[in-house]
Amino acid sequence: MILGLDHIAIAVPDLEKAIARFAEDFGLSYKGREDVVAAKTSTAFFPVKETSIELVHPLNGDGPIAKFLEKKPGGMHHLCFRSDNLEEDIERLKTKGYQFLSDNPSEGAHGCRVIFIHPKSADGVLIELNQAPE
Ligand code: CO
Repeated sequence: MILGLDHIAIAVPDLEKAIARFAEDFGLSYKGREDVVAAKTSTAFFPVKETSIELVHPLNGDGPIAKFLEKKPGGMHHLCFRSDNLEEDIERLKTKGYQFLSDNPSEGAHGCRVIFIHPKSADGVLIELNQAPE
């Protein structure tokens, strides 16, 4: 079951500059950085009532966000829905014809398990599903 919108992710070419913008210019509370080696990303989270804004930046200069930033100067990257049973939601959505970027969930920020739905299955929007650790 989908529980809510967990976060919205923005790909950024300069992470420190973007952190300063959201923390200082926009006054959001900064929850800290986390490098997600499995996803080759550096992330920074700003919780906003019931959701978060996630800044995503290439970790060590490669990975999916590096590819994204080769094509675009930055911008909206994905929406993430929080699930309470990832396997069940994956099965349910696969039955409906959704295509996923991988066969199985992988490790995301905050110890979550995550999986991505291909943008071509969702009107061009990359959608992540995540489940928090127990
Ligand atoms: Co995300």
